[in-house]
Amino acid sequence: MQAPDLKTPLPGPKAAALIARDERFVSSSYTRSYPLVMAGGSGAVVEDVDGNRFLDCAAGIAVNATGHAHPEVVNAIVDQARRYLHMSGTDFYYEPQVRLAEQMAAIVPISGEKRSFFGNSGTEAVEASVKLAKWYTKRHNVIAFLGSFHGRTMGSLSMTSSRNLQRKGFGPLVPGVYHTPYANCYRCPVGRQRETCGAECVDYLTDQILVHLVSPDEVAAIVVEPIQGEGGYVVPPPVFIERLKELTKTHGIMFVADEVQSGMGRTGKMFAIEHFGVEPDILATAKGIASGMPLGVCTARADVMSWPPGAHASTFGGNPVSCAAALATIDLLRRELVKNAEVVGAYLLESLASLKDKHPLIGDVRGKGLMVGIECVKDRTTKERAVDERDAIVDAAFTRGLLVLGAGKNTIRLSPPLVLSKDQADTAVRILDEAFTDVEKARGYTKGGG
Ligand SMILES: Cc1ncc(COP(=O)(O)O)c(C=O)c1O
Repeated sequence: MQAPDLKTPLPGPKAAALIARDERFVSSSYTRSYPLVMAGGSGAVVEDVDGNRFLDCAAGIAVNATGHAHPEVVNAIVDQARRYLHMSGTDFYYEPQVRLAEQMAAIVPISGEKRSFFGNSGTEAVEASVKLAKWYTKRHNVIAFLGSFHGRTMGSLSMTSSRNLQRKGFGPLVPGVYHTPYANCYRCPVGRQRETCGAECVDYLTDQILVHLVSPDEVAAIVVEPIQGEGGYVVPPPVFIERLKELTKTHGIMFVADEVQSGMGRTGKMFAIEHFGVEPDILATAKGIASGMPLGVCTARADVMSWPPGAHASTFGGNPVSCAAALATIDLLRRELVKNAEVVGAYLLESLASLKDKHPLIGDVRGKGLMVGIECVKDRTTKERAVDERDAIVDAAFTRGLLVLGAGKNTIRLSPPLVLSKDQADTAVRILDEAFTDVEKARGYTKGGG
C-alpha cells in the first residue's frame, strides 16, 4: 500500500458518522488528537473508513512492532485461535505460554536463570514488577521519577507523574512512592550542562530523599524507564542509569526497568537498557511484544521470582493467542526488525535533526532507533514550551496523511512500526517539514527567530 493517499477532506463522511456515535456512547476520558477512524492496515500504512491512506508513525502508541497485519503474526494468531482461545495459565498449563517464557529468558538482558509472569497490559506488567519487588525484599517503599508513565491502575498510577491530570481526582494513591528528578539533559532539573553531566540529579535522590524521607533499607524498588516515553521521549545519559544501578546494588534495592514502551526492538536493541550496559533485576514489557494483541510480561531473576502459588495471578494473562502472536513477533524482531529499527531509526533521526536549521520551532531532536522525539519551543534560548504549536503540527501532519502523536507537553513522538523503510522515513520527514513550515508561517515564527 502506498501512503499518503487522501481521497476526502478529513474526517471523511464515514469517519464523521462513526465519531458521532463514539462521542455518545464511549467514555469521554480518551484523548484523541485527530479524527482517524481505522479500517485496515498493512506494514506502516493505515487506511481509514473513507479509503484515505496514511503513513503510520504512531503504531497504535508504539504497539504494532511488526507493522499492521504482518502475515506471519496473523497466521500464528489464526492457527492458535483454531486450537483454543483460552484456558488460563493461572490454573492450567499450555505450550505457547511456556515457549514464550523460554523466549523471554533468552532475550531479556538479565544474567542467569529467569522466570516470567504474564498479564494483559503494560500497567499489569508494572504492577507485577512492583508487587514482586515488595514481596522479595520485604520492603514497602518505591522510588519513581518525575515525568514518568507507568500506567493507570492504582499501583502504577501512584508512580506515574507525567501529567497531573492523570492523577487528579483519584487520590489517595498507594503510599510509599517517592518521586525524584529524571535526567532530562535538554532541561536539566539541577541546572547542569549535558557535556559535563555526572547525573547530579541522582544526588537529589541520594542526599535528600534517601536522607530526609525514606531509609534506603526500606526501599523495595527503583522503577525507571530507560528512555522516558510519555514524558517526552527523553534519553538520559548513561551515567544516570549507571548511578541508579550502583545505588540499588549498595542497598539491596530491586532495579525495575519499565520497558513497556522502549522494549521489544523499538530502540534498535531488543531492550533500551542494553544501550546502558546495565542489568535490571526485574523488567516489565508490553506494547510491541505481541504486535497488537494484549499482553504484558514481567520477567525477573529466577531467585527473585520465587513467590508462592497464589501470591499473584491473572485469569486472562498470557492468553494463548497473545502468546502465539508474541512468539511470531519475537522471531521477526530477532531475524530482521531490531536491525531495521537501528538502521532506519538512525537515518530518521539524522534527517529530522537537519530540519532544525530550517525550523525555529524545533528545540531538540532526540531518540534511539525508532523511538524519536522532536521537542518544540517558542524560543531556543528560553526553551519556552510550544504547546499549542506542537498540537497544530501534529494536526497539520494528519491532514497531509502522516500519523504522529504528542508526548509530554510539547514533544512530537515518532514511534512507527519497526518495518518502516528509508523511503517511508523520507516521506515522514517531508510531511513534518511542510507541517512545521505551515504552523510557523501561520504563527509568525521566522528562521533565526528563536
Ligand atoms: C513506559 C510505560 N509503562 C507502562 C505503560 C502502561 O501500559 P498500558 O497502557 O498497556 O497499561 C505505558 C503506556 O504508555 C508506558 O509507556
